[in-house]
Parts: sequence; structure tokens; C-alpha cells
Amino acid sequence: MKKHLLILLSLPFMAHAQNTMNIVEGSSPIKYNNMIFGHFIEHFDTQIYGGIFDPNSKFADEDGFRTDVIEALKQIKVPIVRWPGGCFVSTYHWVDGVGPERQPVYDKTWQVEDPNTFGTDEYIKWCRKVGCEPYICTNAGTGTPEEMSDWVEYCNLSVGKWGRMRMANGYAEPHNVKYWSVGNENWGAHELGARTVQEWGPLVRESAKLMLSVSKDLKLFAAATSNKNWTLPLLREAGRHLNYISIHGYWDPLFHHNNPAPFIDCMMKTDAPEQDIQRTIGILEEAGFGGGRIKIAYDEWNLRNWHHPWHGNFRRGFDLEARRKNDIPSQYTMADALFSACFLNACLRHADIVDIACFSPIVNTRGAIFVHPEGILKRTTFHVFDMYVNLLEDYVQPIDWNTERLEGNKNASTGVLDGVLTISEDGTRHALVVVNKDPKQSRKLTLAINKKLPRRIEGKVLCGASPDDYNEIGAENRVTPEDRMFVLKDGCVELPPHSLTVLRF
Ligand code: AHR
Repeated sequence: MKKHLLILLSLPFMAHAQNTMNIVEGSSPIKYNNMIFGHFIEHFDTQIYGGIFDPNSKFADEDGFRTDVIEALKQIKVPIVRWPGGCFVSTYHWVDGVGPERQPVYDKTWQVEDPNTFGTDEYIKWCRKVGCEPYICTNAGTGTPEEMSDWVEYCNLSVGKWGRMRMANGYAEPHNVKYWSVGNENWGAHELGARTVQEWGPLVRESAKLMLSVSKDLKLFAAATSNKNWTLPLLREAGRHLNYISIHGYWDPLFHHNNPAPFIDCMMKTDAPEQDIQRTIGILEEAGFGGGRIKIAYDEWNLRNWHHPWHGNFRRGFDLEARRKNDIPSQYTMADALFSACFLNACLRHADIVDIACFSPIVNTRGAIFVHPEGILKRTTFHVFDMYVNLLEDYVQPIDWNTERLEGNKNASTGVLDGVLTISEDGTRHALVVVNKDPKQSRKLTLAINKKLPRRIEGKVLCGASPDDYNEIGAENRVTPEDRMFVLKDGCVELPPHSLTVLRF
């Protein structure tokens, strides 16, 4: 008979490892929204043109979309993609991107010409091929509430000037776009069409009223931050119309100088996203929209800022060639993978409030995928999404962690392990996802859950040969998930250094 170990609740003498995971007594599993595995794409550099849309590519389909990219996005079951920006949207007029005659427009945000050959209808068509929900961010910079609501008419009505325009453009059926955001980062001086706190609430309120007058069931977002000085007034003025508030996070500031932070410094940043989430939850509660009445959409996030000097310095202008530095493969390492896994764990731990998250961006720049004429490169972060969407169960089982500390520079420290336990609806299957942030040492984890565990547990591990390992053209699979059997010893499993592991039992 297969020998089973009954792992009792962890007792001090049993916890050989200082790292222990206990199920929270009396807790109930929470179903998370798979839209936390969403993505973002912007009209920036080669994300759209030369990224997902390249009619001259040998991989292009009849619409000019790269089929190798679409297949990769299906592999990670992309559930939602936010478009067209980002800062770009704050000077974008959607009508320029529809209809038979497209005029190129000078994109004042990124200071290049946009051919407008990829617009709303192409975006919707692309989303249908990927199998994801479209999520449109509107122009609250140089745009108006009426322009936003006209865009909703174009997409969702079959009457009126704009709905009939879509039909005349060859799309008889409404696009039925459910997810709409008012504005991008209008709170920031870097944004063209930035707004003051006093302006923002009323603008969102009036935009929301117009958009809801077109489609009353919209899922409506507004640009917010985890700073109450901006977000509290917004909620007081417009909260009653909103389903979500959007926050963004980039933690390695590479806008102007492309010198990626080293692994250990990136690990010291892994607690920051959850701190932002907790601050934002506090603001929602203070404004009377807690408990899920308004949820959080972390709809732009990435460890690394995009590199585009000198964004926001309007007297200096951009160094356009510098954008190529985003393509350097060696900067997307296990630091990016483990930070991203910790970010997703934070979203899972707050599954009752964090409903959507969009990795920024999806293709090229700092994306999970890099494209080149002969194919695509799956960066380390792609494999993180692959493991989460394809190996986790549908519910989060609340657990208490007791974890050793990992010391960083300048007295910084963080818990060395970061994990989430997921469970199937019927409670029969578990998938534990856990990060070991230690760049050198394996770490033991006591699985203190009151469940018979097999002595040998199937695992999937992403770790590379070193913390700084990465994939590149010609070495596409240097860092890729590997099957690994874990043997339970005294209730402990040993997790490899600089690793993301999913244990299924
Ligand atoms: O660096 C890209 C920019 O980051 C996005 O356009 C904007 O939304 C965020 O500030």
C-alpha cells in the first residue's frame, strides 16, 4: 500500500524548516478572477506595428496579425488585453483609426507618426482571434466625455451616427466591448492632458454618465492611484458610477537610464505591489466603496519601467533610438520572473478585491514575448504566466506563512518564500505556487496542511542555471519550466534557489 504521511499541524519540533505554511483555521477558499492574468498593449515603439501587427511578416495572417504571437498568447490563455494606451491614449482620437481612409497622425505622446492602420476594428478582430476580452482606455487628456461616449456608440450600438458608421465600415454586428476606462495617468505631470484633483472627479463623473447612457452594463474604470489625495476625491465625485479603479506599478525606474536593478534589489521590491493594494483597499473602504463594491484593476504593471528617455521632459524631447535598449534580452532574467510571480501571488491573496491585472506590455518593449523576423522569443515572464494559468486550481485557500528573511542591501529584507495555495472547487486537488527568492540557497518549506500528502509530489520548476539567466534568440529554452519530483521529508519540501515552483497534490 502506498505509504502516506499524515502531516499534522506543524509543531515546533516538526518544523525543521523555519518556513511553514498553515491553512488559516476556519477559512474558506475564494474564487479568483483569471483576469488577473491579463495584459496591456500600447501604440508604442514595436508593440503594435512590428509586434502583433505586421502584414509583411511571413507569419502574418489575412489581417496582418502575427499568427505565432496569437498562438503563444493562446498558450497562456490571455483573458483580457487593455489598449491603445497608456500615455498614448491621452492624445489619441479614435475616429482617426476607423474607416476605409486612414490618415497618418503625428503621435505627440511618443513623438512618432502613427499610420492608423491598426485601429478599433483591427483591435477587436485581433482580440477575437486571441480569444481575449477587449478593454479600451479612453482619451481623458485632449479628448472629451462626448468623444469617449461616441467611441462606446461606435463599438456597441447599431443605431445613431457612430453605430451606423461601424456598420458602414463592414462590421454589421456590434463589437460589444464591455470594459472601458476613463483616462490613463491623468494624475501625472508626464501625461499630456494631465488634470488636477479638482478637475478629475467631475470629468470622470460626466464621462461615466455619457458612456453609461450608451451602454448601461459597461464595466467602468477610472485612472486612480494608491494615494488618497487623488483617489478619495475621485471616488467621492464619481465612485457611484464605477466598477473599478485602475492603479499602475513599475518598480525599477528605467525611464531615462537603462541600468536594470540586480537580482537581490529586485527581490527587495517584491512586497511593494501588495503594499499598494493594501493602501488602495484602505482608500476604497474610507470612501465607502469597500468590500468589493468597487474593485481594483492593476492594469499596468511590470518590474521594469519602459526605457524612453526623456519622457516628461518636454524641453528635451525623446531619444528615439534609445528605445531599442528595451530589446536587450539579457535584462529579462529570473528577477523578472520571480518578481512577477510575487506580484501575481499578491493579486491572488486579495482575490476578493483585485479582479484584473494587465502585464505591461504583452509584446516587445518589456513584454513577455519578443518578436523577430524568424519567430518569437518567450522571455522568463512568459513562462510565469504559462505556469499560473495552466497549473493552478480555481480557488485560493487562505494560508498563514511563517518564512525566514532574506537580507538585501541597505538593511532591506523580505520573506524568502512567497506562495499561494490554490484548491479545486471540490477540494480534491491542490496546487501550491511558491517562490524561493534566495539567489544561492535552496530553502525548506513545511507543508503544514492537515491532508494526507504523497511522499513524492509532482512539481514544475522555473529557475534557470543562475538568478541572472535569460532566454535569447538561439537559446530560446535556456530558462523554461521543467518537471521535477519532490520528495517529502519530515513534512518538508526543498525548493531550489531563485525558483518558481508549482506543486500539485
Ligand atoms: O512607460 C509606458 C508608460 O507607463 C505608459 O504609457 C503609461 O501608462 C505609464 O506611465
